[in-house]
Amino acid sequence: MNTLFSPDVYLDAIKTHGYVVIPNALINELVESLMTDCHRINPHFSLAGIGRLNDLKIDKTIRKDKTYWFDGSSQAQLTYQALMESIKTTFNRQFFMGLFDYECHYAKYTNGDFYKKHLDAFKGRSNRVFTTVLYLNTPEQGGELVIYKPKSNHIEIIIKPTAGTLVMFESERFAHEVLPAINERYSIAGWFRKNASISGVIDPPR
Ligand code: OGA
Ligand code: MN
Repeated sequence: MNTLFSPDVYLDAIKTHGYVVIPNALINELVESLMTDCHRINPHFSLAGIGRLNDLKIDKTIRKDKTYWFDGSSQAQLTYQALMESIKTTFNRQFFMGLFDYECHYAKYTNGDFYKKHLDAFKGRSNRVFTTVLYLNTPEQGGELVIYKPKSNHIEIIIKPTAGTLVMFESERFAHEVLPAINERYSIAGWFRKNASISGVIDPPR
């Protein structure tokens, strides 16, 4: 397998704290091929929006990163998605969560790019249950991820992006922000979702 960690590592932490930080979560080879994939699709990164589908707005005062949604166009993407599917299965077995989907995008922050404090999901509105962030490179400075204590302005933890580190947290509980990048910063942000279908229409991705 491509992971270096077993479910015990993250299940306990998530049960106790609602989040987990796993250094060296993937083998270097996979992290490197994901990074290579980023360089391949580099011209196709586009300014990230806020909200979903018709709500999608681009507001450079809130976030300035550029993203590229996975489209299965490389073996690296397929391998990463398969890995996340296996974590999804573990979550479902352990917590009976009914997660049905995983969606993710590459994100690129260059000097000065940030993402202000936000929640990835709002109770009753979104179907995002768990957020995942995998770092693909190790910027020398900047781009720290700040996770806040639930419903608070107090900081829970500051994470320095490091290639191969995987962060997972409950999307509805933890507001978080990306401090301004200095060096280029590449990551994969993803979400495990539960079905929030209304009258039989399954919530569309993005
Ligand atoms: C996001 C996000 C955190 C990070 O894309 O929603 O919060 O560290 N990313 O890249
Ligand atoms: Mn976020």
